[in-house]
Amino acid sequence: MSILSQTENEKLFQTACGAAKQAGMLLKESFGKHKEISFKGRIDPVTNVDLQSEETIIKIIRSRYPEHDIITEETDIEVSGSAYRWIIDPIDGTVNFAHDLPFVAVSIGLEVHGELEIGVVYNPVLGEFFHAQKGKGAFLNDTQIFVSETVSLEKSLLATGFPYDIQESKNNNLSYFNHIIKHVQGVRRIGSAALDLCYCASGIFEGFWELKLSTWDTAAGSLILTEAGGFATSFSGEKFSIYEKEIVATNGKIHKDLLKLLRDIT
Ligand code: IPD
Ligand code: CA
Ligand code: CA
Repeated sequence: MSILSQTENEKLFQTACGAAKQAGMLLKESFGKHKEISFKGRIDPVTNVDLQSEETIIKIIRSRYPEHDIITEETDIEVSGSAYRWIIDPIDGTVNFAHDLPFVAVSIGLEVHGELEIGVVYNPVLGEFFHAQKGKGAFLNDTQIFVSETVSLEKSLLATGFPYDIQESKNNNLSYFNHIIKHVQGVRRIGSAALDLCYCASGIFEGFWELKLSTWDTAAGSLILTEAGGFATSFSGEKFSIYEKEIVATNGKIHKDLLKLLRDIT
């Protein structure tokens, strides 16, 4: 149940939707066209559109809620300790965006008193607008979505991702991947953790695991998943927190079995 009044929740939700749609327009307009790309790490890109998208979202939130805190990927903004915390990934799937692969999304989550209340993940290229308000279910555009009913790991299609330090670090998910792929129907690497979570929420994937994620990768998507009936934990099975780096997210029905496979490696 949401701790917000219906009116407040709706106003905040409309702000999140409006900001995601504005930013999404920018992504759509520049998709497939030349972009300026620079690198934050060896293989970790940021484009001029990431920055424009971020600026657009911040401007909209600030114009309505100047006292709220904002955590966002490309800019370090000092937090004041507000009970309201917006968590933004201006483009989740920047490598895809740089290569014109259409798995890209704007992700906006809102925490109130430490509880996720609103999550919006928008892929403007594919026209997928995923959204959830705590206690009200999860939706893709106007249709309510639910996790899949599959109970068998062997019949499950999973998603995962690999960290940007894959070349330098041994903790790069390859040993988990190598083990898990032999026990399931398939594993996909879409390149956007936010969409991975939404595709679990809508029943495309039965599960998703990843390590070394950031708050903005999972905030909106994890609410969308749980509102669709899914389940998220750490690798050791504790309740998932967006402030932790690892996630195991499933339809709930294969959760224990997937945790067991992960434990085989740790
Ligand atoms: C990345 C994507 C990717 C995941 C990486 C993230 P970015 O976010 O979500 O799927 O594997 O760990 O950092 O850099 O595109 O915002
Ligand atoms: Ca991201
Ligand atoms: Ca990003």
